[in-house]
Amino acid sequence: MDLQGRRILLGITGGIAAYKSAALCRLLKTAGAEVRVVMTEHAKQFITPLTMATLSKNPILVEFFDPENGAWNSHVSLGEWADCFVIAPATANTLAKMAAGIADNLLLTTYLSARCPVAVAPTMDLDMYAHPATRQNLATLAARGVGIVEAGDGELASGLRGKGRMAEPETIAAFVGELLAGKGTAAERQSVDSVPAEAPDSRPLAGKRFVVTAGATIEAIDPVRFLSNHSSGKMGYAIAEQLARRGAAVTLVSGRTALDAPAGVTRIDILSAEEMYEATVAAFADADGAVMCAAVADYTPCEVADRKLKKGDGELMIRLRRTRDIAAELGARKGDRLLVGFALETDAEREHAREKLERKNFDFIVLNSLRDAGAGFRGDTNKVTLIDRTASEELPLLSKREVAARIADKIAGLAAMRPAR
Ligand code: PMT
Repeated sequence: MDLQGRRILLGITGGIAAYKSAALCRLLKTAGAEVRVVMTEHAKQFITPLTMATLSKNPILVEFFDPENGAWNSHVSLGEWADCFVIAPATANTLAKMAAGIADNLLLTTYLSARCPVAVAPTMDLDMYAHPATRQNLATLAARGVGIVEAGDGELASGLRGKGRMAEPETIAAFVGELLAGKGTAAERQSVDSVPAEAPDSRPLAGKRFVVTAGATIEAIDPVRFLSNHSSGKMGYAIAEQLARRGAAVTLVSGRTALDAPAGVTRIDILSAEEMYEATVAAFADADGAVMCAAVADYTPCEVADRKLKKGDGELMIRLRRTRDIAAELGARKGDRLLVGFALETDAEREHAREKLERKNFDFIVLNSLRDAGAGFRGDTNKVTLIDRTASEELPLLSKREVAARIADKIAGLAAMRPAR
């Protein structure tokens, strides 16, 4: 990760995970960033300003003015200075205040004035994290373009186990790197100033509705066994997140995965290809587009036994029938709406991908091949080629999040050329 010359404003609020902010600060500095730290009063109970000042090599900001000499700490200039404002840890209290626009400390006023990308790494007890109020606050922030570094699972300060642990510093630092990839610096922004707080095209999909399919389908053989595949859902979830970040209202039709729905995204859980067909076709009815990332079973057992099949001595034959092709169905109905497909191939990749592009009536198709190291199922990276009817663009090996960002940018570009519905 290269953050050379980047200015990162690190916000620290009052949670036990504040001890990890020290490691995060170090990682950002090692990657070449200049770091300034703004803390809440409560955060000082968990990590000392001296520690953070030593690591960041900058004085720590807590109050609106320095009580010693009355010098004013301007939240406006802090927000202007930063290329990225990352609040880690972000407590339930601070998230709620951010969502409501409350400005009762320096960190919050800085958030409200910030012109740069903002990310939060929530931390709290599992019930607080799952509470509808917190989920709603995170959804509100995500819809405004704030990056959410979802909390992880594990042992919590309360002694309970569950979701609510702040993401590891390495994950947060990587998130910041991805957030800033391809973006200009604050200094560049100021040199062409009069640019509004949010660049006008930072939410180019606002007002648009998208459906995304993700994960593997499950085709029951009997109450115990099923046919499925290796899809984890990571690629599709990353696309849903990136579309939502660009302002789209996203419905994610998802096979069974271990992932949480990205903040602000509506998830519909399905198991079989038939259930995915029904949910996706219904959601597409009033959508502006769809991205078909799920690995859908092409065949399903002709009969599902109502009891566990007993083993015998000989071979067991399971007769399979074709499932319905969801993408092809959407392709037939789409009109001037956007439809993006995936092609997962193992040979004659481009040829097969182009054939699917035409047959399913996609606007473009994302080809990934299992012959490429780091591509395809389960991992956090993918190597894809974006193919449309006139051109193709081969991307290097990237994180799935970056791949999703490139796909979402291409979609936003195409959506801008479509008539409003
Ligand atoms: O979930 P991950 O672990 O992150 O892995 C990501 C992925 C490898 C699953 C993803 O990158 C990917 O390639 N998804 C598409 C997998 C696939 O089934 O490809 P396909 O070439 O068989 O299908 C072509 C297209 O038709 C796809 O858009 C697929 O979603 C769609 N399809 C296929 C069959 C069917 N019955 N209905 C469909 O909609």
